Amino acid sequence: MFQGRSFLKEIDFTKKELNYLIGLTGHLKQLKKQNIPHEYLKGKNIALLFEKTSTRTRAAFTVAANDLGAHPEFLGKDDIQLGHKESTEDTAKILGSMFDGIEFRGFKQAVAEDLAKYSGVPVWNGLTDRWHPTQMIADFYTILEHFGKLEGLTLAYIGDGRNNVANSLLVTAAILGVNVRIVAPKKLQPTEEIQEIATVYAINSNVEIIVTDDIEAGVLGADVLYTDVWVSMGEEIDFKARIDDLLPYQINAELFAKTGKSETIILHCLPAFHDTKTKTGAQIAELYGLTELEITDEAFRSTSSLVFTQGENRMHSIKAIMAATLGNLYIPNVE
Ligand code: CP
Ligand code: NVA
Repeated sequence: MFQGRSFLKEIDFTKKELNYLIGLTGHLKQLKKQNIPHEYLKGKNIALLFEKTSTRTRAAFTVAANDLGAHPEFLGKDDIQLGHKESTEDTAKILGSMFDGIEFRGFKQAVAEDLAKYSGVPVWNGLTDRWHPTQMIADFYTILEHFGKLEGLTLAYIGDGRNNVANSLLVTAAILGVNVRIVAPKKLQPTEEIQEIATVYAINSNVEIIVTDDIEAGVLGADVLYTDVWVSMGEEIDFKARIDDLLPYQINAELFAKTGKSETIILHCLPAFHDTKTKTGAQIAELYGLTELEITDEAFRSTSSLVFTQGENRMHSIKAIMAATLGNLYIPNVE
């Protein structure tokens, strides 16, 4: 049963439910490509709350809402009272009385949970410091679309192993039956708590979870190599210290070869520092002489890289999440 539910974190959903959302993503992608209307949310109003910046998530929610016949309204952190002059509870009650669904991107997972608790409408987590669940539906759909299956594959995430994307990948892969490795220096590995959550699922799904700082062992045999930025939004840290910790974990030709496979694909949730064509990229090049960070330009643009398909799939997957939870769809036998 999906109707009226929020999508706040992956562990709120069963394997069957997550697989349904992944499957619906493919269906809606086909409808879009064939220009077949799918206005399951006609007449609905969707609030898009953003405490942090976004390109993909904001664009995906906007286009998906329009395709579904709904009206999206962007409410940025400087546009509304939330956090400054009004509590989450009060904001949630007001938004819930006017909007039919709420997207939230921000810092604290607790704010997303409270919005859902007090608004009475579905809340979709567009990224918090802890989880990035809508990203997962797109990512595992992209993997399924490419390999034709999920179970039995091995995903190696390399880089900052305790950010939102790493947490979500570890737990979601374990739920879905994908072997998962987090390859990161000890100080940037997932917390015990996140590892324990994932381990319970992994035992149930009969998959292997490895958290290691051993790059060779971590990437050997991986079907999917995944990375993310080395410094996440809202982190106030010394960029240089992070670079020193993570430079050996950069996805480049040498690291790719360590998979021992040529058919391995590369994923990145984006945005990525793969050249100096950004303000930060240019600053880092000037300060430290580094022109590429978590992934080289060559790897980013290689035929193994599916990052732009993955990015497009954010739209189809977010559409699936909104349609399933707000569109009164007939969904048999999914518990
Ligand atoms: N991957 C992702 O969430 O991208 P944005 O930050 O651009 O939304
Ligand atoms: N870990 C990154 C993901 C961006 C989509 C961040 O939180 O900034």
